Amino acid sequence: MSLRVLLLGGGGREHALAWRLAQSPLLDKLWIGPGNAGTSDYGENVSLRAADPDEVLRHAEQIKADLVIVGPEDPLAAGVVDRLTAAGIPTFGPTRAAHELEWSKTYAKQLMQSAGIATAGSRGFEDAWEARDFARTIFAGGFECVVKADGLAAGKGVTVCDTVEDALQAIENAMVNGHFGAAGSRVVIEERMRGRETSAHAFTDGVTVRHMPFSCDHKPVFDSDQGPNTGGMGVYSPPGWLDPAIANEIRTGVTERILQAIAADGRTFQGIIYPGLMLTADGPKVVEFNCRFGDPETEALMPRLRSDLLAICDATAHGRLAEVPVEWSEDATVGVMMASGGYPGDYETGAEITGVGDVDSDVQVFMAGAQRDEAGVLRTAGGRVLCVVASGPTVEAASARAYDNVLRIHFDGAHYRTDIGATANQPLPNQQETVR
Ligand code: AMP
Ligand code: GLY
Repeated sequence: MSLRVLLLGGGGREHALAWRLAQSPLLDKLWIGPGNAGTSDYGENVSLRAADPDEVLRHAEQIKADLVIVGPEDPLAAGVVDRLTAAGIPTFGPTRAAHELEWSKTYAKQLMQSAGIATAGSRGFEDAWEARDFARTIFAGGFECVVKADGLAAGKGVTVCDTVEDALQAIENAMVNGHFGAAGSRVVIEERMRGRETSAHAFTDGVTVRHMPFSCDHKPVFDSDQGPNTGGMGVYSPPGWLDPAIANEIRTGVTERILQAIAADGRTFQGIIYPGLMLTADGPKVVEFNCRFGDPETEALMPRLRSDLLAICDATAHGRLAEVPVEWSEDATVGVMMASGGYPGDYETGAEITGVGDVDSDVQVFMAGAQRDEAGVLRTAGGRVLCVVASGPTVEAASARAYDNVLRIHFDGAHYRTDIGATANQPLPNQQETVR
């Protein structure tokens, strides 16, 4: 078999995926649309709008793609998988209908409720006055809440509120000021959960489920989980604090159960599914479901994958996942995200990035918001710029190596968290401690 593959996306996740796809003996040629400064080492970047089904189909036909792999959520929500499969092009990723689990928080809540999966209590609002009243009631009762835009908002539509003023501002931003466009015309107000978070990725072809190791994203921008949420400032795998019995409970009672619920709802799910969970004092509760590889989780998972990623994706797209091995290394991995000064607020781009060539040969630098200029100079081009990923026998060892290598990379304004992986082997805090 010799496959011509189009990978959609252009972040750190896609660099990590391209790196593994390029190692496959099954690969004939890889195209990445639109890709970034890192993906071009493994294939040809093509300039396309990944969330435009017509444009993607045109490119896929032009290159005679045998397989299209979708990285980000926007193409899934836009129906790219539906369009490609209707045209006879095998595609890795769920249809728009199956992806509703991610693009509608309301649908996800309904499905979880019907399947008996634990999650935060919530209510949806289309009226800002009613939303404000509800938020005031929550804080008056001594509770806290989280305000979420109902649709996709690039990970930025969620505000974890410490005060009623935070909640009122978040409602104003989404419903009145239109910060998240149409995604914010409806908001969901949730009970605020407390606990440590983990992501439980799995491959599925709709019948077979192959669970990946657990991984942990670090959302808040500053050390000790301070400051606003970001797209993810770092990641480690595996969480030593996660009890194996609870891990199994999550795999069967959450991931497999939601897949059964989607199937019972008449939708076929194929691709990646992963619940983001919080380990609360009352047990694991779902924060959200994603229907694609996490970013930066993928940057920590791909170095641990022992099997052929392309064989897995191709088998998944053809309903043959049961026939291919999916094996993982025992090594731990830690990824530290280096971000532009000011991120997740306003930031400047165009700063020269130096030192990437000085990292150890077995350490990966996955590019996210980074592009080469016409002279070939690597420059910042986004908020999250790159992710430095190291392996080791323990998360502590991997973390020490990741930070040793981070120190060799420079760009003006660079900032990063210094505590990625620090809690990996610390026992879960009790309910009184405020960890989010
Ligand atoms: P989401 O986009 O729904 O995954 O939310 C982004 C982040 O916000 C999560 O990873 C959590 O850190 C935080 N978050 C979301 N919902 C809640 C909740 N109900 N309680 C506490 N934190 C939450
Ligand atoms: N790591 C969170 C996400 O990919 O949405």
